[in-house]
Amino acid sequence: MTLAGKTAIVTGASSGIGEATARLLAAEGCNVVLAARREDRLNSLAARLGEGALAVPTDVTDAAACAALVARALERFGSLEILVNNAGVGLYGSVANGEPEDWRKMFDVNVLGVLYTTRAAVRHMLYRSSGDIVFVSSLAGRRVPHPSGTVYAATKHAITAIAEGLRMDLHDKGIRVINVEPGLVRTEFPESSHASAREYYEEKAYAPLETDDIAAAVIYAVSQPQRVSVNEVAVRPTQQPK
Ligand SMILES: NC(=O)c1ccc[n+]([C@@H]2O[C@H](COP(=O)([O-])OP(=O)(O)OC[C@H]3O[C@@H](n4cnc5c(N)ncnc54)[C@H](OP(=O)(O)O)[C@@H]3O)[C@@H](O)[C@H]2O)c1
Repeated sequence: MTLAGKTAIVTGASSGIGEATARLLAAEGCNVVLAARREDRLNSLAARLGEGALAVPTDVTDAAACAALVARALERFGSLEILVNNAGVGLYGSVANGEPEDWRKMFDVNVLGVLYTTRAAVRHMLYRSSGDIVFVSSLAGRRVPHPSGTVYAATKHAITAIAEGLRMDLHDKGIRVINVEPGLVRTEFPESSHASAREYYEEKAYAPLETDDIAAAVIYAVSQPQRVSVNEVAVRPTQQPK
């Protein structure tokens, strides 16, 4: 199914997987609405992608801002066919040594932010009886990778539940729900918990995926004919053991 002329919102489009997904969607002919907090990054990406790109600085932890994001997309492009819920943070530490403020931040962005944006988008999609809701979750939504990732994994397990519940709710309303679960990907993601992302990746026994590998999985899922609903996509480096 062609994506040309569709409109997609991508949260967390200022870097990493979100930026790559916005770039690949634009290359397929989509209008792309770029959402994140770092306005300079969004503006620079929008300038590179051209007329069909719109930067809308958004903090997804603000429910009103998420509703305004969807409203801005509709105002500029007239419709919304794809939402990519990609914004996320990983703040690692064991439960015993963790900080409640870090837990709150992860649940605010990774779970509540996703719900706020999804609610606003789904309300429009229900009206049109079509659309794709994509979650960029994690393999940590299937299993806890390490004790230091317990709370992060809890937020991604929540996405597993939200994606499945939403799929059941929307399956007969023309709206598809796609949960993409990456393994290790080379991005800025480790920087909030490690001194250097480069060192973090060098310490791994296998090479990470590149951001385009995950973006390509998103493109694959949303390009399927309407009768095909690709609900869960796990994508790990071939060498990643679990
Ligand atoms: N890298 C990996 O190995 C990996 C593996 C599995 C899953 N994932 C998932 O992939 C997604 C993208 O992460 P990434 O690896 O591409 O890391 P990244 O480059 O750090 O991207 C994270 C994005 O989230 C945005 N963000 C964070 N807080 C936000 C907020 N309050 N409001 C709006 N946007 C916010 C950031 O933008 P601003 O700072 O500009 O707001 C940034 O664009 C995340 O959900 C992550 O859990 C990553």
